Amino acid sequence: MNARINNEYGENEMKKKSVPPVELTTARLKLRQLKATDAPAIFSGWTYDPEVARYLTWSPHKDVDATERVLQYWLNEYRKPDCIRYGIELIENGMLIGMIDVVGYSEGNPVVGYCLSRKYWNQGYMSEAFSSFIELLFDIGHRTIFIEAVKENTGSIRIIEKHGFVFLGCKEFALSPEKPEPVTIRAYRLDKSRYRRLKKVSITERIRKLLKGYKHHLK
Ligand SMILES: CC(C)(COP(=O)(O)OP(=O)(O)OC[C@H]1O[C@@H](n2cnc3c(N)ncnc32)[C@H](O)[C@@H]1OP(=O)(O)O)[C@@H](O)C(=O)NCCC(=O)NCCS
Repeated sequence: MNARINNEYGENEMKKKSVPPVELTTARLKLRQLKATDAPAIFSGWTYDPEVARYLTWSPHKDVDATERVLQYWLNEYRKPDCIRYGIELIENGMLIGMIDVVGYSEGNPVVGYCLSRKYWNQGYMSEAFSSFIELLFDIGHRTIFIEAVKENTGSIRIIEKHGFVFLGCKEFALSPEKPEPVTIRAYRLDKSRYRRLKKVSITERIRKLLKGYKHHLK
């Protein structure tokens, strides 16, 4: 989702941001920069797929050439200092299964987008990638993250809400000139202070549960 995003930097927001790492790893995933040789995997994984594109601005690609053109555009964007975009690879077999990126900036604050090959949906992969991606954005100095999702995109909304994003409201608009039917978009934001507070609570809660289990075990 990247319609109606203000790509102009808010001067103050873009100051003092650290450079993101080239790679991030999670328990099952490697988030790494895209490469020119990724086009076939991206096409056969998700850009061909109408189900993946359903709530996104783009239409399914007809052939791998179309994906190659978009990929070339994405690769060129790596030259920009504000470009943060990772392919999502399965550590166990090196398969590229999706991507996650900053699709634009709203007054200097990153707006996040992501997609995953349908074969890998509902196995917790995007939640895992998203957790480490938002942690990274706060670590490099951002104070607020925005994200938007079409109202019917239940899986995405679940990911957003379970990470503590605050619902800002709905707006109606066409996803892109290719998709002129108006849809309802839910907009969210997450501030660093809230994120850190929620994270602390969840760590404390986990420790409390562990201690409870341990005490029970000793009885
Ligand atoms: C949205 C998307 C990235 C989700 O990826 P994923 O790896 O399947 O997501 P996860 O498995 O980490 O989490 C999905 C959550 O939504 C829930 N969910 C998925 N579909 C659901 C549905 N139809 N109804 C209710 N809950 C649903 C899952 O149970 C899971 O919840 P849980 O963490 O409580 O178990 C993936 O479906 C996708 O690529 N969609 C197409 C592209 C897209 O829409 N991108 C988002 C643009 S805003």
